[in-house]
Amino acid sequence: MNELDSLVESAQQLFAQALTPADLENAKAQFLGKSGKMTELMKGMAQLSVEEKKSRGAAINVAKQAIESLLTARRKALADAELEAHLKAEVLDVTLPGRRRGTGGLHPVSLTLERIEGIFGSMGFDVAEGPEIESDWFNFTALNTPEDHPARSMHDTFYVEGGTQHAPNLLRTHTSPMQVRHAVQHVKKYRNLIDAGQSMPEIRVIAPGRTYRVDSDATHSPMFHQCEGLWIGENVSFKDLKVVFTDFCKTFFEQDDLVLRFRPSFFPFTEPSAEIDIQFQSGPLAGRWLEVAGSGQVHPNVVRNMGLDPEKYIGFAFGMGPDRLTMLRYGVNDLRLFFDGDIRFLSQFQ
Ligand code: DAH
Repeated sequence: MNELDSLVESAQQLFAQALTPADLENAKAQFLGKSGKMTELMKGMAQLSVEEKKSRGAAINVAKQAIESLLTARRKALADAELEAHLKAEVLDVTLPGRRRGTGGLHPVSLTLERIEGIFGSMGFDVAEGPEIESDWFNFTALNTPEDHPARSMHDTFYVEGGTQHAPNLLRTHTSPMQVRHAVQHVKKYRNLIDAGQSMPEIRVIAPGRTYRVDSDATHSPMFHQCEGLWIGENVSFKDLKVVFTDFCKTFFEQDDLVLRFRPSFFPFTEPSAEIDIQFQSGPLAGRWLEVAGSGQVHPNVVRNMGLDPEKYIGFAFGMGPDRLTMLRYGVNDLRLFFDGDIRFLSQFQ
């Protein structure tokens, strides 16, 4: 192989090794640049005779053209490859469906809680929240349920270590501890008025939240929701309880012909106490009595634990189950569905 042929061959190899246009331009300079190999060869012809110049010049030209066409081919190959890569990276499949933005929604129980807050809010009730890890004092003792009271056994719960009388040591079994918790804050705020023998603004509050018991079946979950209600003033009677709660139920279920029944019952923190049942007049549950809340006139001992004089202040309380209200409103028959997190169930409420 002569010198020119091997030059063309080494150009071809170098061009092939160039993987970017910049590499290729560098490789080109080694052959066709100002001090490139072809230029050197041209310069070297100066000493040759005219005849020799003719044939040598023609041969060099052939080689030069060969290198130039190799260069052009490689430039095109690199440009093609780049375009190809570009197209690959930006594939656009126009047959794909459009992208949807997933819209979340509120959990059915949250929808119920919002509804409860809205209805009681319109009746002048505040909304209070309290801790889920509660002290024995607020959960039981302050609610007139002393240590050895049998009612405690109905509230089998989860205890944590290290509790003292006021320190948190159990998962609250109901939202009733919020009665005393909230009232104590309220009384603190109006201490001066109360001490001066003047009237404090009434306590009118609901307290929704999570509660816990050792219980689990189709209608009981170890974690469930309650919503407490409390109205304390100088002249609040059982009649007010009936009016408020009846109004609430009719509004909540959007049924004016809903019938309520206040059935005598027992709770340590109310006297008298009543369980509240409702009866739909139409629909799949029509005619059945369905229990929705416990209630009663707040026990004098509890009023005392609120820091108030039970001779002067009186009122009622109730505690209802938002989970159950949700089941009744939407016709859900298994409570556990609410807490499984199955999107197929939950998305039906959007
Ligand atoms: N705390 C009671 C429970 O969990 C429900 C209850 C009954 C709440 C009577 C009240 C009430 O406020 O007055 O079973």
